[in-house]
Amino acid sequence: MTDRPLRVAVLTVSDRSSAGQRPDLSGPALAAEVEKLGWVCVQTAIVPDEISQIASTLVTWVDSRQSDLILTTGGTGFSPRDVTPEATRAVLHRETPGIVEAIRSRSLVITPHAMLSRAVAGIRGKSLIINLPGSPKAAVESLGFIASVLPHAVQLISEDPQSEQGHQFNQ
Ligand code: MTE
Repeated sequence: MTDRPLRVAVLTVSDRSSAGQRPDLSGPALAAEVEKLGWVCVQTAIVPDEISQIASTLVTWVDSRQSDLILTTGGTGFSPRDVTPEATRAVLHRETPGIVEAIRSRSLVITPHAMLSRAVAGIRGKSLIINLPGSPKAAVESLGFIASVLPHAVQLISEDPQSEQGHQFNQ
């Protein structure tokens, strides 16, 4: 496991919040949950539901190497402006479907509306990027379902490719 706390960036995707027409509740709720987990929230931003702005923020954040984990909140549903999954997929090097499968299966126990999430997750460079829903309750709930696995996930991503530490192969 890593010795230092996980460094997390939180990106709120919302036309109305980015225009100042509605307060951003889910970004601060996620940041508070991150701190409660003993991790550090190193960056936050709000962007509109535009593929180019979502994707460029993700790439800039990954390139800056300031965070191990990037959480997005919002824009994963079925409405025409919901494009967070498309923007995220466009910048991922490898998808990690197990993470969003776990979120959806656990969330379905709470609400059938969980099947309306098109969220994706994956790896770009040394960062793990995970889409979460837009409501503060849903975002925090979803993070709670996967939180215990994330330090190990991030550690695996940052491993030296030459190192076999942490893996057991039976040959
Ligand atoms: N997941 C959990 N755990 N709890 C919820 O209340 N709401 C759902 C779903 N996932 C929900 C949830 C709803 S109503 C929608 S529309 C989708 O997430 C997508 O949300 P988004 O468009 O705000 O990203």
